[in-house]
Amino acid sequence: MKKNLIAMSLVALTMLMATAGVHAQTTLKEAFKNDFLIGVAINQKQFDNDDQRGDPIIKAQFNAISPENILKWESVHPEPGKYDFTEADRYVEFGEANHMTIVGHTLVWHHQTPQWVFQDTNGHPVTREVLLQRMRDHIHTVVGRYKGRIKIWDVVNEALLDNGTLRKSPWERIIGDDYIEKAFQYAHEADPDAILRYNDYSLENEPKRSGAIALIKKLQAEGVPVTAIGLQDHVQMDWPTTEQEDATISDFARLGLKVMITELDVNVLGGKRTAEITEMANQGTSNAYANGLPPAVQQELAKRYADLFRVFVKHHHDISLVTFWGVTDGDSWLNLRGRMNYPLLFDRAGQPKPAFDAIIQVARTQSAAK
Ligand code: GLA
Repeated sequence: MKKNLIAMSLVALTMLMATAGVHAQTTLKEAFKNDFLIGVAINQKQFDNDDQRGDPIIKAQFNAISPENILKWESVHPEPGKYDFTEADRYVEFGEANHMTIVGHTLVWHHQTPQWVFQDTNGHPVTREVLLQRMRDHIHTVVGRYKGRIKIWDVVNEALLDNGTLRKSPWERIIGDDYIEKAFQYAHEADPDAILRYNDYSLENEPKRSGAIALIKKLQAEGVPVTAIGLQDHVQMDWPTTEQEDATISDFARLGLKVMITELDVNVLGGKRTAEITEMANQGTSNAYANGLPPAVQQELAKRYADLFRVFVKHHHDISLVTFWGVTDGDSWLNLRGRMNYPLLFDRAGQPKPAFDAIIQVARTQSAAK
């Protein structure tokens, strides 16, 4: 009798919750609120509130944003002396309207930077002084415009090669190794309160990690205001290992830096180079999961995400932000050459995948254990 009563009240309660639109499902930002911010890279359609599938997910699940492209040099400073902030302004306004932490990406990089930056009007390389002047003007103008509003900047992106030495980019060739110091110095002048990040990929690998540690130590010894490290984490199913991830976070935290995971996605099709993918596309073999992700792989992906988040939560004192590089699978840059990839937590219809539930579960079990 008593049991029946309890069962009946449970049914009534469930119905009441359903009518009231209460969902038992936790959101990402809620689940990890005691650990770190949960960010997402967004595109123009999304910050224009024009993506009916993506926008409700962004607003419900995330409390930080990064711009996929619109703050890169080519977008914001396409020609000498010509800045265009139309889109960047809307991106920042979107973040503020939704009470999100706003990230700026990226100031000094060798990609998506126009050729004119490095050349004079005759197409010859400019001098160190001219390039430093251009860099300073760019950083002061862009960082200065959003002073106090963009809280975190990727100041230098991908300066290292896989062997841990400095990439011979036009920045390095024309200015010299100290272009990195100068970039941080200018960013700090423009907004002394901003968190300034060095951002790179594959830092889990030796010797690139050693190269980055040496670089950071050198910058710190010179008093350069680098305050955070960005681990991009465009990862594979089997790389990096959780041990590598764990050791990498510890290594950078030991230097006194905040660690941020800045561009997280899991490539279920394997880490191939663009040329290889093009070749595979020509042979018709590039699209292993054209008709959907097999359930077994879906489960492996969920496990992969759970394993990574167990490491992140373990380091919650040192990690302040984990950002996904895209909202749904359909938005991802990994659908290269028409491939169907499945790297994120929401599927092409905007539905949460088993990987979503898996990491929520990690948050629950680990916070119970804390
Ligand atoms: C790099 C850059 C990002 C983005 C991704 C892939 O990691 O930092 O801005 O371009 O590649 O799209």
